[in-house]
Amino acid sequence: MENDLKKAIDLIVNSKYTVAFTGAGISVESGIPPFRGETGLWSKYNPEILDLTYFSINPVESWRVIKEIFYDFFGEAKPNDAHIALAELEKNGIVKAVITQNIDNLHYEAGSKEVYEFHGNSRMLVCQYCSKKYKATDVNLADIPLCDHCHAVLKPDFIFFGEGIPELAYKKSFEAAKNADLIIIIGSTGEVVPASSIPSFAKQNGAKIIEINPEKTLFTNSITDIFLQGKATEIMNKILIGIKQKL
Ligand code: APR
Repeated sequence: MENDLKKAIDLIVNSKYTVAFTGAGISVESGIPPFRGETGLWSKYNPEILDLTYFSINPVESWRVIKEIFYDFFGEAKPNDAHIALAELEKNGIVKAVITQNIDNLHYEAGSKEVYEFHGNSRMLVCQYCSKKYKATDVNLADIPLCDHCHAVLKPDFIFFGEGIPELAYKKSFEAAKNADLIIIIGSTGEVVPASSIPSFAKQNGAKIIEINPEKTLFTNSITDIFLQGKATEIMNKILIGIKQKL
């Protein structure tokens, strides 16, 4: 592990275009549970509430659960050392972009600027009819939120099952992956497409892959060059210290 860590630090310091690709695991130490696994959200809640058809037929029930998970609970979370380390590496000019599957806003809160939210975000709500957007904090979520313009039910601006990837985030993510000579994957099982194809696309274009996760994933034995087994904060803190010693 120490040897792999040294190799990873060298790769990062010598890279010209490092891109981070993050999943739910990077936010676990901020108190946000992942989706899959024993403690994952889908072991407690029915993923149906985030299915577009189900949502349109049962908006009241869906919103009750959405509010509980994504606004009451996620709303309290703060960025952890791994989010902060990525923001610091962007300031140093090492990390050029963060592609995230997360909708929790924690990369922005940590200070990252170039963030591509592949699955959208929970900050905004969007009218399904007229596409007017609202800041979630400006809307009273105690009642089912409605558009003040056309009275349709508002939906969080993250993608539900059955929806396409936001166009701009898709374009920017694949552009970044194409330019990348190094991808750092943090906390993703790699089970959800098309997001999981981003690191593979970068690899095909010659990028090296560093992966940080306490468990092996679908990436580990397929595209990962250096697997750093452990929690995001612990490994990112070590990486940051190592890089600072070399700069
Ligand atoms: N540090 C790093 N990784 C961790 C940590 C930690 N402290 N704790 C758990 N993990 C890892 C798990 O081992 C797992 O590999 O984080 C990963 C979380 O996996 P998923 O829950 O599948 O999350 P993700 O890959 O982001 O899911 C993708 O699925 O339901 C959809 O849209 C949702 O964006 C989400 C997508």
